[in-house]
Amino acid sequence: LARGVAEPDLAGRHVVVSAGGTREPLDPVRFLGNRSSGKQGYALARTAAARGARVTLIAANSALPDPAGVDVVPVGTAVQLREAVLKASADADAVVMAAAVADFRPAAYAAGKIKKKDDQEPEPIALVRNPDILAEISAGRARPGQVIVGFAAETDDVLANGRAKLKRKGCDLLVVNEVGERKTFGSEENEAVVLGADGQETAVPYGPKEALAETVWDLVTERLR
Ligand code: CTP
Ligand code: CA
Repeated sequence: LARGVAEPDLAGRHVVVSAGGTREPLDPVRFLGNRSSGKQGYALARTAAARGARVTLIAANSALPDPAGVDVVPVGTAVQLREAVLKASADADAVVMAAAVADFRPAAYAAGKIKKKDDQEPEPIALVRNPDILAEISAGRARPGQVIVGFAAETDDVLANGRAKLKRKGCDLLVVNEVGERKTFGSEENEAVVLGADGQETAVPYGPKEALAETVWDLVTERLR
């Protein structure tokens, strides 16, 4: 098929994509956040819609415009993201967790703005763990045969870390990116290896996030048959 003419191989399917990065509030004006732009998740949502899927996009704090023909559910925190993902994935054929979920959140939320005190050093910020959404939905699939995809940005021994993470999470596919200067955060391009729980490894060369998204849907589609 010519580029730009999508085969409707996801027609009749419901897919859920999470995108962006969670923000964990400290007080009414401050949060702990991360650098995720949401671009990879939005590219996944757009390409799935172009391939005929019904798409629910759980969008955590992304400034990007809503993609046409996609149900967008805005969320803020990891706990809100979990609620939205669990709800949307109940009848989903595939779930792709492209969002950067904060591992920890502040143990306490200050209802009023935290103020400096004269001549006093600041208190350390106590943190607690957030739920692991990907591990949870993989352990208790809402539907038999539901295909679950995670993302991992790694440094150092990228592939070994990715393989260990794939096992730990229990998902079907893990898209592993090496964190680098021109790659991943905020950029239009990405490069990755997609690891399958079945041992399959698919290298995706440096290129537009759309191309990586298409490869993810190719691999998901193979597993839906
Ligand atoms: N993820 C999730 N819930 C969390 C943390 C991560 O669902 N609380 C998902 C992310 O959306 C991503 C995948 O898990 O798809 C891998 O995220 P990553 O941060 O690489 O995994 P962690 O288990 O948090 O490992 P690390 O200690 O390396 O951050
Ligand atoms: Ca993490």
